Parts: sequence; C-alpha cells; structure tokens
Amino acid sequence: MASNHTLNVDLGDRSYPIYIGTGLLNQPELLTNHIRGHSALIVTNTTVAPLYLKTIENTLNAANIRINTIALDDGEQFKTIDSVMAIIETLLTQRHDRQTTVIALGGGVVGDIAGFAASIYQRGVHFIQIPTTLLSQVDSSVGGKTGVNHPLGKNMVGAFYQPQCVIADTATLSTLPDRELSAGLAEVIKYGLIHDASFFDWLEQNITGLMEKDNDLLAEAILVSCRTKAKIVEQDERESGIRAILNLGHTFGHAIEATMGYGNWLHGEAVATGMVMATDLSLRQGWIDESVKHRCISLLDKCSLPVSSPPDMSIEQYMDAMAIDKKTVNGTIKFVLLEALGKAIVTSEYDPELLIQTLSKC
Ligand code: NAD
Ligand code: GLY
Repeated sequence: MASNHTLNVDLGDRSYPIYIGTGLLNQPELLTNHIRGHSALIVTNTTVAPLYLKTIENTLNAANIRINTIALDDGEQFKTIDSVMAIIETLLTQRHDRQTTVIALGGGVVGDIAGFAASIYQRGVHFIQIPTTLLSQVDSSVGGKTGVNHPLGKNMVGAFYQPQCVIADTATLSTLPDRELSAGLAEVIKYGLIHDASFFDWLEQNITGLMEKDNDLLAEAILVSCRTKAKIVEQDERESGIRAILNLGHTFGHAIEATMGYGNWLHGEAVATGMVMATDLSLRQGWIDESVKHRCISLLDKCSLPVSSPPDMSIEQYMDAMAIDKKTVNGTIKFVLLEALGKAIVTSEYDPELLIQTLSKC
C-alpha cells in the first residue's frame, strides 16, 4: 500500500496541510481537527454524494458536529452564482453562524463553488477541501482560487480564499471515470512542462501505469504536483507574477470551454489542447525545439486527451474569448509560453502573426 504524506502550504497565518494518501477518509481526525465550531455544511453533488457522503457524515456525527448537506446538480454548467446563492440560503435557513465550516466534497467544480460561498458567507467562514477527482487533488483544491463562471468568461467571479486543510484520498479515484482521470492527467503534465523536466520524463515512463490507476504512481504524481503548486503559491499567493505560469494552456483552454459551452469540453481536455497551442506558439517563436512539442503531444495523446482545436472554432471566436482572459491587460493578451521543457514564462512579447498561425494550424 502507498504511504501517506503531509505537505504544508506555507502562507503565514493562512498556512495549511495537504494530506495525500489512501484511505484518508477513514481517518476522522484529519477532518475533525480542522473544524472550528460545532456545525458544518457539506457541499457535494448528486454524483459524489452516493459514493462518499455517508463516510463524512459518520465522521462528523461521531464528533458531535451538527451537519447539513447540499448536493448540487453535477456539471460545469452549474458552476454559477445561482449555485453559490443556494449554498448561502442553506447556511442561513439552517442557522449556521460565523463559527461554521464549509466542507467541499467533490471535484473542482464543487470545490470552486463551495470555497467562494465560504469566502463571502458572513465575510468568511472556515472551509475544508476534500477533493475526489485527480484534477482537484493535483490542482484546484490547493492554492485558494475559488469562484464561478459567467456566460461571457470562465472563472470571472471569485475570490482568493485558502482552506483550513486539503484531504486528498487516492481511494476515491477508484470510482472516477476514465475520461475524468485523463482530464486530471492534463494538469499533472502541466507541472512537468512548466517547472520540472525530470517529472515530465517520469510521466513519460509511467503513463501506462497512471492510466491504469496504479495507486502508488497516482500518489507520487499527486505529491509532486502539489509540492510544485505549493512552492509557486507560496511565492505569489494572489498571482501578481510567477503564479500565472500555472495557467499554461489555460488562455486557449478557457476560450474553448466558454465558446464550446461549459461542460462540453472538460476543463482538463481544453487545457490539454491549450498546452499544445502554447507549445506550438513557443516553437514558432523559436524558443523551444520541435522535440518538446512532439513529446507534449505524444504524452497527452497517450492519455487519450484532445491535441487539436475544435474544428468548428474560428480565430475570431478565440480572439473574442481571450480578450477577457484575466491575464489580459489594456487589451493585450498575455500567454504562458515555454522557453524550454520545464521552464515557462508569462509574456506579451510574442509576434501576433505567429499567434494567428497557431490559431489556424492547431
Ligand atoms: P468536476 O468537478 O466536474 O468533476 C468531474 C466529474 O467527476 C463530475 O461529474 C463529478 O461529479 C465526478 N466525480 C467527482 N469525484 C468523483 C469520484 N471520486 N468518482 C466518480 N465521479 C466523481 O471536474 P474537475 O475536473 O474535478 O474540476 C474542474 C473544475 O476545476 C473546473 O471548473 C476548473 O475551472 C476548476 N479548476 C479550478 C482550479 C483552481 O485553482 N481553483 C484549478 C484547476 C481547475
Ligand atoms: N490553476 C491555476 C492556479 O491555481 O493558479
């Protein structure tokens, strides 16, 4: 059995542990030690509730914590301000005071919505992340970005709000559909591309086992990913600089998600194609050699991820959607591009002609 790990995200008085391992949902103290008051609201969705809710409810009942639960409809299309308001309404009608704790049990969609609700309820209540998808275990549950989509743009409404702890139980991945596992692997590969060439090598060597859900390999991939993310977030919690490299492929990817309709392309799928586009633009700029792009495509392809743009998406649609990306300043779109395998930069210093070539050729 894989060993368990605790990583610390070091952010002064907002520091917190990330617990990574198998069977962690059956270690009640990991959760109860981080609950401040005597009540909690579990936010989950209709898919995850039948799988893991009972375990969490039993843990909290045994600790005499009063609980309410809200199970949201499942899907990116429900990552809306309406879902946030439904959570706030439950908190109010069930008389949760400022000492309450909001617990997100589910993937990145549940985590982003619940975290945002926690950040605004009575100006902020405690929040715990129990991520149950690979993507949420390696990325969205860590770092404190919370929020919801607007029809005009992805994640356009939100707040930075750090959790009290993150409990990433790899056992929950046993029920995860293959397509969702692949979407999570896109974000894992991202860490290799932006920061850690030797991790990228390791992923190339172990991708078959990861796709087969080998528990030890998954735990290792989650650990390395969270360690990298924690290191970057510790340097730049509110993304005024280096943190933006975590968005490799996201400017193109968010444009695909918003244009194709939320939920039609999974976030990780859109990021996979976006990373191919980012490596293509980096190659056209002459910053990386062809082999980096080929290795990126080959690894994503082995994960059954899409490596080319939706055929019916036009250059104009990309440009319109990217114009409201959060990295866009005074109308200039910034991209995360590669200078080498394992080295990313955030830049507006690209040739716009080459961008058009990337949009038309990918
Ligand atoms: P998701 O939350 O939609 O979950 C994917 C699917 O898996 C859903 O149908 C869900 O119900 C189901 N599911 C969850 N856990 C399961 C389990 N253990 N077994 C079976 N089914 C399970 O998608 P996601 O990929 O986890 O997250 C994507 C979201 O995360 C996007 O909205 C994206 O914008 C956001 N995100 C946020 C950050 C951040 O820093 N906050 C970073 C990356 C992505
Ligand atoms: N997923 C990008 C970030 O957390 O900054």
